[in-house]
Amino acid sequence: MNAVLKPAEAQFEAMTPSWLPAVARVEQSAYEHPWTQTNFSDSIHAGYRAQLLTAGSPPDAALIGYFIAMKGAGEVHLLNITVAPAHQGQGWAPLMLDGLAVWARSQDAQWLWLEVRVGNTRAKAVYERYGFRHVGTRRNYYPAGPAGLGGATKREDALVMSLPL
Ligand SMILES: CC(C)(COP(=O)(O)OP(=O)(O)OC[C@H]1O[C@@H](n2cnc3c(N)ncnc32)[C@H](O)[C@@H]1OP(=O)(O)O)[C@@H](O)C(=O)NCCC(=O)NCCS
Repeated sequence: MNAVLKPAEAQFEAMTPSWLPAVARVEQSAYEHPWTQTNFSDSIHAGYRAQLLTAGSPPDAALIGYFIAMKGAGEVHLLNITVAPAHQGQGWAPLMLDGLAVWARSQDAQWLWLEVRVGNTRAKAVYERYGFRHVGTRRNYYPAGPAGLGGATKREDALVMSLPL
C-alpha cells in the first residue's frame, strides 16, 4: 500500500502517449479483462477526454487513476474509470467523477452515461452514491470468466446508469 495522498497533493493532467505504458500496467492490475494499450492510444487519437490523476512531478510522479470519456450530443459517456489498486478506497473515484462532471457541463452536456458489470458491486455503489441511477441493462455486454488463450467464452450483463447534470 502506498502512502495515503491528500487531494491537495493530486492534479489532473492529460493522458499523453508517454504515460501509456504506466496506464496499461495499472489497467492490467485492476481488471480481469483489461483494455489494451492500443485501446488507450486509440481513445487519445479519437479525441476522447482522457485524463490522469497524478501526484508529484516527473520522474517520480505517481499515477493514482484515470478516466476516458466520449462526448455525444448533449451527453458524455464514461468509457473507463480506474483507480490504481494501491490507491483504492481513498475517495479518488468521486474526485475523478467531479472532474468529469465539471468538464461535461462545460461541453453543454446534460447527462453522464456509463456501463458497469452487474457483478462490480463496489463500482456500482460508488456510482449510486454519486447520484447515478440504473436505467437499463445490456445483456451479455462484457466478456467474463478466465481471460487468455482462446478468449473468454462466458459473458456478463452490463447495467446502464445515468446522471443528470
Ligand atoms: C471502482 C473504483 C473506481 C472505485 O474507486 P475508489 O477510489 O476506490 O472509490 P472509493 O474510495 O470511493 O471507495 C469505494 C468503496 O470501495 C471500498 N474499497 C475501495 N477499494 C477497496 C479495496 N481495495 N478493498 C476493499 N474495499 C475497497 C471502499 O472502502 C469504499 O467503500 P465504503 O464507502 O463503504 O467505505 C476502484 O475500486 C477501481 O478502479 N476498481 C477497479 C476498476 C473498476 O472496477 N472500475 C470501474 C469500472 S465500471
